[in-house]
Amino acid sequence: GDAELNGFPHYMLKEIYEQPETLANAMRGRLDDSDSTAHFGGLNLTSQQLRQIDRVIMTACGTSYHAGMVGEYLFEELARIPVEVEYASELRYRNPPIDRSTVMFAITQSGETADTLAALRESKRMGHTTLAICNTVGSSIAREADGGVYLHAGPEIGVASTKAFTSQSCVLTMLALYLGRTRHLSSVQGQAIIDNLRQLPEKVRQTLGCHERVKGIAAKYAHVRNVLYLGRQYLYPAALEGALKLKEISYIHAEGYPAAEMKHGPIALVDADTPSVFLVPRGSVFDKVMSNMQEIKARGGPVIAVCSPDDEEVASIADDIIPIPDVPEYLQPIIAAIPLQLLAYEIALLRGCDVDKPRNLAKSVTVE
Ligand code: G6P
Repeated sequence: GDAELNGFPHYMLKEIYEQPETLANAMRGRLDDSDSTAHFGGLNLTSQQLRQIDRVIMTACGTSYHAGMVGEYLFEELARIPVEVEYASELRYRNPPIDRSTVMFAITQSGETADTLAALRESKRMGHTTLAICNTVGSSIAREADGGVYLHAGPEIGVASTKAFTSQSCVLTMLALYLGRTRHLSSVQGQAIIDNLRQLPEKVRQTLGCHERVKGIAAKYAHVRNVLYLGRQYLYPAALEGALKLKEISYIHAEGYPAAEMKHGPIALVDADTPSVFLVPRGSVFDKVMSNMQEIKARGGPVIAVCSPDDEEVASIADDIIPIPDVPEYLQPIIAAIPLQLLAYEIALLRGCDVDKPRNLAKSVTVE
């Protein structure tokens, strides 16, 4: 009912604004300074099973799939474990050669997505350990998995997922820390990750301060028919997620792409009415993304840049900038998600769309 909106005009906006709190809830009781790692109550893995994990497959649909892609970068960088991410609808009908020591993660907000449930059952049947990263306590996937981690994000009502994505990314960061600490990560490295995670809710709170600026940018671009979202490395899945948010609720066609790959196709779409949203905070690939941005500008495409605070270099090229707080690269997808959620929300509002219940979409796709 309306009471649960707490004064917000839509569930989606309420859920966007809940993220400092939902991230704190995802971490509560799980970060341990005494051994500089994370702990989870429900993984149900023996320490022997834990050490034997030599490959991970993550499977999911929609926004949860994008969180899985963030997880791929996290597990490879922090835990040095090879990861593949598969759409559940594809995985369930494939028969990939998978070793018994491979662990399957099903990532799902609702715990009821039919394809994800089927992929989980198929993996179990083949004898793999299956773990769920799930928001809904007691859901089918939570019950059928061998173990898992709950998000504790509270009910998500808006059809377009927001707080579940940031919590899934946060849980995957803690899992990468945990697995990394059973392998090569030193206690000093582990503790640095913990300290950065602890600052995350406050950083997200600061990031929400971009809302007024984003409103102005939305007004400039609400009429367009196509938008490109471009980022690299950890911010490639964030670009996919930004594009998905916009198309889900505003019905504008949007494509997320690895920023350098756009020259193999999407750059053909660029014109004065096709803006590109660049995810370009300072980091290891900053210069590379900048040159991708210049290529778009050279072809007359407007550029909206999500960037580090006071970045004069970006500001001198982009048409609009959205500064976000500095965080380590592995946390940038969480921070960058906030302005992209708000941008989609504001554009959808200006176009008169029903943001909480977009046409043709369901919150939980329980049929194949
Ligand atoms: C639907 C929803 C999306 C969600 C996807 C996967 O498409 O509209 O917001 O990301 O299902 O849902 P799950 O509950 O499995 O995360």
